[in-house]
Amino acid sequence: MMNEQEQMEFFLKIFDASLPRLGPGEDASTKRALDAVLAYGAARGDWPQGSTRLRVLDLGCGNGAQTIQLAKHADCTVLAIDNHQPFLDELRRRAEVEGVSESIQVRLGDMGKLGSEMGTFDLIWSEGALYNMGFLNGLSSLRTRLVPDGLFAASDLCWFDGDAPDECRQFWADEYPDMATVDSRLDAIKTLKKYEVLEHFVLPESAWWAYYKPLEERLGEFRNRCSDEPEQLAIIDSLQAEIDLYRKHSKHFGYVFFLLHRCP
Ligand SMILES: C[S@@+](CC[C@H](N)C(=O)[O-])C[C@H]1O[C@@H](n2cnc3c(N)ncnc32)[C@H](O)[C@@H]1O
Repeated sequence: MMNEQEQMEFFLKIFDASLPRLGPGEDASTKRALDAVLAYGAARGDWPQGSTRLRVLDLGCGNGAQTIQLAKHADCTVLAIDNHQPFLDELRRRAEVEGVSESIQVRLGDMGKLGSEMGTFDLIWSEGALYNMGFLNGLSSLRTRLVPDGLFAASDLCWFDGDAPDECRQFWADEYPDMATVDSRLDAIKTLKKYEVLEHFVLPESAWWAYYKPLEERLGEFRNRCSDEPEQLAIIDSLQAEIDLYRKHSKHFGYVFFLLHRCP
């Protein structure tokens, strides 16, 4: 019988850092969100404040799919934080290959316990990761990490409607109990009174397949390798079930990018 640690080790073998990315997203969506925040900042004229290079904090950066895009397309320095060292090692390797390593610093840490010595940032970025500290709780507590008038770009899994079939509702109630509809997320952000919502947009289905396609291929390889190991197969099945659910019910839920401006 696998103990909890062995299950986690097996899980992390599947989610090895060599996967292209570790959650739904794609370069075009990162670029769309980045262009929107840069345009907003440029229109305001006083952002970034006191520095020519934008200071960006990328939380739950994983192996850096979005970090590399930020460094490539903005004149910025990025502090990329994740709590899993192998992802950060891979990020560093990719940054070298892409010629942007000078712009990126990586740090092993818990996004919910950032030291005050880190200072403040012009822009906080988090793709598919802020849920780890509770999406709204994260927005709320990280506000003081932004300069006044700083910007926050974060994606979150949301319901598009209230009509999802039971199997879909039940699956996400177990996996992400805090999941909300897009409208109720927007209302809740407004209720925080800490941010103005500049824009939000839904990630296209291609962003899911940029993540799921390589993952599904890997699940197939592990299934062959572990054909005599029922506990490993159960973990593979549960990951495959998520992909199958998306294939069947993608019109009911998806990732939404929220672009926010810190209120004074
Ligand atoms: C779904 S992945 C998204 C990774 C990346 N942003 C992407 O889109 O490919 C979530 C990431 O958050 C990291 N993570 C989870 N909990 C964390 C925490 N408390 N502090 C820092 N990183 C965390 C995981 O290691 C993982 O890399």
